[in-house]
Amino acid sequence: MNRFREGLLECTSIQCLPARNMPAPTAKGLILLCRPGFETECAAEADSLTRQAGLFGSARPKSGEGIVHFIFDELFDWQQAAQALPFTAFVFARQRSIWVERVDELPQQDRATPIIETIRKLGLKFARLDVETADTNEAKTLSGFLKRFVPHIERALHAQKLLRDNMPELPTLHLFFKDSSRVDIGVSLADDASPWPMGIARLRMPHEAPSRSTLKLAEAFQALMTEEERVAALRAGLYAVDLGAAPGGWSYQFAQRGLHVFAVDNGPIAPSLMANGMVEHIRADGFNWRAPRKQVEWLVCDMVEQPSRIAQLVADWVATGRARRSIFNLKLPMKKRFEELRRCCQQIDARFKLHGDSYVLRIRHLYHDREEVTAYLAKTLASPAEQEKPKRR
Ligand SMILES: C[S@@+](CC[C@H](N)C(=O)[O-])C[C@H]1O[C@@H](n2cnc3c(N)ncnc32)[C@H](O)[C@@H]1O
Repeated sequence: MNRFREGLLECTSIQCLPARNMPAPTAKGLILLCRPGFETECAAEADSLTRQAGLFGSARPKSGEGIVHFIFDELFDWQQAAQALPFTAFVFARQRSIWVERVDELPQQDRATPIIETIRKLGLKFARLDVETADTNEAKTLSGFLKRFVPHIERALHAQKLLRDNMPELPTLHLFFKDSSRVDIGVSLADDASPWPMGIARLRMPHEAPSRSTLKLAEAFQALMTEEERVAALRAGLYAVDLGAAPGGWSYQFAQRGLHVFAVDNGPIAPSLMANGMVEHIRADGFNWRAPRKQVEWLVCDMVEQPSRIAQLVADWVATGRARRSIFNLKLPMKKRFEELRRCCQQIDARFKLHGDSYVLRIRHLYHDREEVTAYLAKTLASPAEQEKPKRR
């Protein structure tokens, strides 16, 4: 199954599920974790996606909280909500779960019992437990409490047979703590949430990489591509173009996997990276430079430029087949970030529609992103009949 469902441009509709024996927990809304400062975008996106899905609701985002509770106008079956609003449709939510319960006023001496009791009433069993907080300094004060609480609740869930580690097809249970006296309970379908708790990618910084930016591309490979795509596209011997490459953090990701890299930037590339012979430094303007090969596997682009210029440039490379796939950053403006992103998506869509081509576009505000979002773009294969038709570019 392709675990990605694209958002922003795609209309989804709720599918009816067969009745089950258990009472389906009802969905109150969505628990959305985001980078602090991006709550407005996160809420605007949730509003847009829920409207497309015919599930209406609202949120009152507060800047700096790192979480948005999006509340549905009416209660829905949680699985229907999860299927209509898959995690991969969201850009700004690092993690999203379907909000089913809240337990207030947890007693200090025994928080686990009322939580377990509420979970039992959901009538579900789970493969995985994610205990979550916002990514804020305030929430960091909960770390001592969580260190003690997490093993305790895990033991209790196992004892009640609510947590089954050996059944990966079961949903994930999300326990979100704003403070130690209140928990919001969320659920997500198997493989329909960030693989990292709270959506925080814990990646090792390779000490020989020329910049911390390298983690952004490493995270993008994991967050935006399937295993199959990684195996096909990150093979030794393939070619990559890196626009805005200096000092070389992104080029490093390819070079250390044995790909040849054209690193395009007027700035200097780290000598350590040039030493292994996989990287050719080209001092040129990334908007005009053309590769000396008809097609490369990768075009990556981290140039600091207007997002619409980057969207146009990347769409051209991929739509014309000069690059088979691309990962690129869109540096968003301070205001109207969601609108700007939508504009870029429309631009890419229009570029591909020009020749009736299909494409896949996945975008996330990665943990290692700040004011930018990271996108993956690839042309998808046309049907055999369409492939036979001659096309003019
Ligand atoms: C954020 S840095 C890239 C960091 C790099 N991805 C890394 O991992 O080390 C942006 C780079 O884009 C380059 N740049 C900006 N505009 C450019 C252009 N028109 N053509 C080529 N490079 C450009 C800058 O010189 C700068 O080195």
